Amino acid sequence: MDHKALFCCFLVVFLCSFPSSLQENVTITVKSVTTIAQTDADFVCVTLDWWPKDKCNYGMCPWGNTSVLNMDLSNPVLRNTVKAFGRLRVRIGGTLQDNVLYDVGKRLPICQDFRTVTNESEGLFGFSTGCLNMSRWDELNHFFSDTGVVLTFGLNALNGRKKSNNTLYVGNWDISNALALIQYTASKGYNVESWELGNELCGGGVGAKVDAWQYGKDMINLKFVVDQVYRTSSSKPKVLAPGGFYDKDWFNQMLQVSGPDVIDGVTHHIYNLGSGDDPDLLNKIQDPYYLDGTAQTFRDVANTVKEFGPWSAAWVGEAGGAYNSGGRNVSDTYVNSFWYLDQLGMTSTFDHKVYCRQALIGGNYALLNNITFAPNPDYYSLETTHNGSPYLRAYTHCSKDQEGVTILLINMSNSTGFDVSITDDLNMYPTQYSSTSTPSGGQREEYHLTPKDGNIQSKVMLLNGEPLMLTTSGDVPQMNPISSNSSAPLRIAPLSIAFARIKDFIAPTC
Ligand SMILES: *[C@@H]1O[C@H](CO)[C@@H](O)[C@H](O)[C@H]1NC(C)=O
Ligand SMILES: *[C@@H]1O[C@H](CO)[C@@H](O)[C@H](O)[C@H]1NC(C)=O
Ligand SMILES: *[C@@H]1O[C@H](CO)[C@@H](O)[C@H](O)[C@H]1NC(C)=O
Ligand SMILES: *[C@@H]1O[C@H](CO)[C@@H](O)[C@H](O)[C@H]1NC(C)=O
Ligand SMILES: *[C@@H]1O[C@H](CO)[C@@H](O)[C@H](O)[C@H]1NC(C)=O
Ligand SMILES: *[C@@H]1O[C@H](CO)[C@@H](O)[C@H](O)[C@H]1NC(C)=O
Ligand SMILES: *[C@@H]1O[C@H](CO)[C@@H](O)[C@H](O)[C@H]1NC(C)=O
Ligand SMILES: *[C@@H]1O[C@H](CO)[C@@H](O)[C@H](O)[C@H]1NC(C)=O
Ligand SMILES: *[C@@H]1O[C@H](CO)[C@@H](O)[C@H](O)[C@H]1NC(C)=O
Ligand SMILES: *[C@@H]1O[C@H](CO)[C@@H](O)[C@H](O)[C@H]1NC(C)=O
Repeated sequence: MDHKALFCCFLVVFLCSFPSSLQENVTITVKSVTTIAQTDADFVCVTLDWWPKDKCNYGMCPWGNTSVLNMDLSNPVLRNTVKAFGRLRVRIGGTLQDNVLYDVGKRLPICQDFRTVTNESEGLFGFSTGCLNMSRWDELNHFFSDTGVVLTFGLNALNGRKKSNNTLYVGNWDISNALALIQYTASKGYNVESWELGNELCGGGVGAKVDAWQYGKDMINLKFVVDQVYRTSSSKPKVLAPGGFYDKDWFNQMLQVSGPDVIDGVTHHIYNLGSGDDPDLLNKIQDPYYLDGTAQTFRDVANTVKEFGPWSAAWVGEAGGAYNSGGRNVSDTYVNSFWYLDQLGMTSTFDHKVYCRQALIGGNYALLNNITFAPNPDYYSLETTHNGSPYLRAYTHCSKDQEGVTILLINMSNSTGFDVSITDDLNMYPTQYSSTSTPSGGQREEYHLTPKDGNIQSKVMLLNGEPLMLTTSGDVPQMNPISSNSSAPLRIAPLSIAFARIKDFIAPTC
């Protein structure tokens, strides 16, 4: 299987089930003439964060050497796992980004790492100001260019503002330090696909907040300088905002104040599983009714963009599931793929163009282990997608760069069986179900993901029964499907995930 980007367009899927005691027959009808959403070619995205090694939660310090500033960029496992995607979208950002200065242009008196501070009125979230020097920025860009990364960089949006009362910051954004970084980056020919302003400063804010009208004005400035700096380039980076939790009035106002053609991407964050130490985390991840709760946010953001910023696109700029570094033995194990793959499927049906997973490394919710950089189970879930009853979740998309469609099925049930038949509904009109046909005669490629020893908290994921592990040379293993007759029903084990590519499924909309 190749490792190129995935979901292109999503089709409408209907699930009909005929319940019986413990076995259900399910028919999935793919409305192959109706596209419900189209995602960006680089839909899958991961984040890199600034957290230093002394960032701790719940008595654990899971960041270690995994931050933008201290990650070992020469680690071969890191390089291989990023490269395996072909083009992986990466967003650099996170809580401390609004506390980072760039040592370029007018030189800073000191350029040093984040330090813990005890005096609340100094620093943010218990840390002093940090600093990115240009030799580290060069190293990062060489790594990104070597590994084919498509980069989004989150700029410090608090620079120059004054703390008013409580957590409100007032005054215009001081763009000079950001501008110096953008100019340096452009002059070096480094490819930044988008510049994002701020992290979680919108609405009520997390540790700090800025008013929406002020943000809208600042975005006009950011767009202006990006246009200026890149005026002779063939491609201009996008500008994104606000990189925080959705708040209807705040988002609407920011878009109204900034006006047409300023903000290219409206980025919002998702932590719908609650805190990382929630004892109920494991159950929430397996509960389809709970997981559905977040659909409303995706719908609302899509509506805000449609109504107030039709020139823009909705992105999930950061999503980690459980906040404060995720849940140990949950977010880093097989079961987390239920949440993650369901989110990828769900967001793309609500017209989001990009989904950035927190994090590639760092915390308990990362795709890669914090010490060895070896992939956690979720990494492979994602890899598999590269090819392109409430307890059974289904999403369908056109196979990427290939014939046919790919169906993602997640079986969250631990007790009810399903036999899935897939039919093609070529009917344009949703009320008529007569013209369905079952693809026949061809082959179906199946990728079944299950946990090792049936333990959903296992850190090892099996693909078609074989453990997915790095090869002895530290490479990502081959991911081979099993073939089956596409007229036979698809059987998905309890608590498992399957991708099926149906090669002879001709969907006109693809
Ligand atoms: C499911 O389908 C099979 C084969 O079509 C049939 O034999 C069986 O009775 C069905 N089961 C239920 C519960 O409808
Ligand atoms: C990795 O994370 C665990 C907790 O999740 C932590 O105990 C350990 O110190 C971290 N290792 C490094 C090298 O940071
Ligand atoms: C992090 O990297 C530094 C410098 O390379 C090294 O001295 C230190 O031992 C590393 N820390 C951990 C926890 O691996
Ligand atoms: C640049 O920053 C990195 C990371 O903070 C640090 O390890 C390195 O020593 C710095 N280099 C210079 C020349 O200051
Ligand atoms: C905390 O820092 C502020 C501003 O730097 C200073 O005015 C205040 O005295 C400090 N408080 C303590 C307890 O050190
Ligand atoms: C905070 O400041 C704003 C103006 O900057 C003011 O309108 C508001 O009443 C203040 N709130 C509190 C709690 O002091
Ligand atoms: C996670 O699992 C490991 C080994 O299975 C165990 O030693 C550790 O105590 C667990 N940690 C938490 C926070 O549950
Ligand atoms: C099966 O799932 C239900 C909730 O969906 C749970 O109450 C039950 O304990 C689970 N059974 C097993 C054997 O895990
Ligand atoms: C889902 O899991 C149940 C057992 O928990 C199993 O009986 C059923 O066949 C699975 N679903 C599908 C679609 O195969
Ligand atoms: C698939 O199954 C159908 C119906 O059982 C059969 O007619 C067809 O020959 C099979 N195709 C292949 C490639 O085995």
